Amino acid sequence: MEKGCSKQYLLQHLLRLLFYLLIFIPSTSKALANPRASNNSAPAVIVFGDSTVDPGNNNYVKTVFKADFAPYGKDFANHVPTGRFSNGRLTPDFIVSYIGIKESIPPYLDPTLSIKELMTGVSFASAGSGFDPLTAKVSNVIGIPKQLENFKEYKKRLESAIGMKRTENLINKALFIVSAGTNDFVINYFTLPIRRKIYSVSGYQQFILQKATQFLQDLFEQGARRILFSSLPPMGCLPVVITMFSKHAISERGCLDNYSSVGLQFNQLLQKELNLMQFRLANHGVSIYLTDSYVALTDMIQGHGRSAFDEVSLGCCETGYLETALLCNPKSFLCPDASKYVFWDSIHPTERVYENVFKSIRPIIDAIIRD
Ligand SMILES: *[C@@H]1O[C@H](CO)[C@@H](O)[C@H](O)[C@H]1NC(C)=O
Ligand SMILES: *[C@@H]1O[C@H](CO)[C@@H](O)[C@H](O)[C@H]1NC(C)=O
Repeated sequence: MEKGCSKQYLLQHLLRLLFYLLIFIPSTSKALANPRASNNSAPAVIVFGDSTVDPGNNNYVKTVFKADFAPYGKDFANHVPTGRFSNGRLTPDFIVSYIGIKESIPPYLDPTLSIKELMTGVSFASAGSGFDPLTAKVSNVIGIPKQLENFKEYKKRLESAIGMKRTENLINKALFIVSAGTNDFVINYFTLPIRRKIYSVSGYQQFILQKATQFLQDLFEQGARRILFSSLPPMGCLPVVITMFSKHAISERGCLDNYSSVGLQFNQLLQKELNLMQFRLANHGVSIYLTDSYVALTDMIQGHGRSAFDEVSLGCCETGYLETALLCNPKSFLCPDASKYVFWDSIHPTERVYENVFKSIRPIIDAIIRD
């Protein structure tokens, strides 16, 4: 009787010890290594889109849309021109760092990536790309369908390294970021005559919307469950748009509201479409959020919010009216402090803006990785 009792007592202790070993110890050691791990963050961040999220895939592509030379990357770690179209990091870099996965997100086409690097996420994005196949074609960059093909190849590589089941799990838990559409309007529809001949503005908005939702459906079928979709920015505030389309581009540098409103309308249509999709796929554990960079950027440009910038309508590089890619190069004049500028070149925001966008969407990131 006595013996049986102490056996049970011992067993209870053993079980409790096991419990601690299994539950408590791993979670504390993880929590020490990564303060967010206990809240089950995302194991990987996977990115698609255009220059707003391309960390250098175009370095490996024959195109003029490159940024792998100075002064790009001037404020990046070690001042490296990585191919990012900015002076420093992009929003997905701030996101991976916040989640605690790594310091920046690499381009998928970098042939030297380790398995660990692949497992914590990559970007398939390509500067100059868009949802309209014609947009990527005119710039000779990686279109969205090809980005999806590269993602499928990426999955195969993961599967052969860590197995089917772990790969599927990783993809289900990964945070997906999609940021594209601006080039479809700015480089393509507003500038080239081809699409304008066939489509009215609203017709083209519908066309892009259809392509964007199809892409989301494709991502879902490939296992994506947590998706952040970036809204269009106020396109009429991009320095190059003001320069190209304003009647007095030198003296009047205000935003062109009718170009911005094309984006605003698109965002509203997109939000409706994403709501429908979220509703339709909710029982598959899908969460899709539209992240509103339109509002965040408009606030920065109009001086709302906490951060005021000195210059909101010219890029920091060279004259700031229309330079980007090769026209912003090692010989270019630079503003003394890029953090006082909204735009780094005539199209692309400065690191400070990307960081502010990250801060504005942080509550959404918290929500989506907790779901
Ligand atoms: C987990 O999330 C809760 C709120 O949801 C927060 O209070 C807590 O600090 C988080 N813990 C960690 C380790 O991040
Ligand atoms: C915006 O307005 C200007 C001037 O009225 C006009 O020339 C231009 O075509 C308009 N653009 C769009 C996209 O509506």
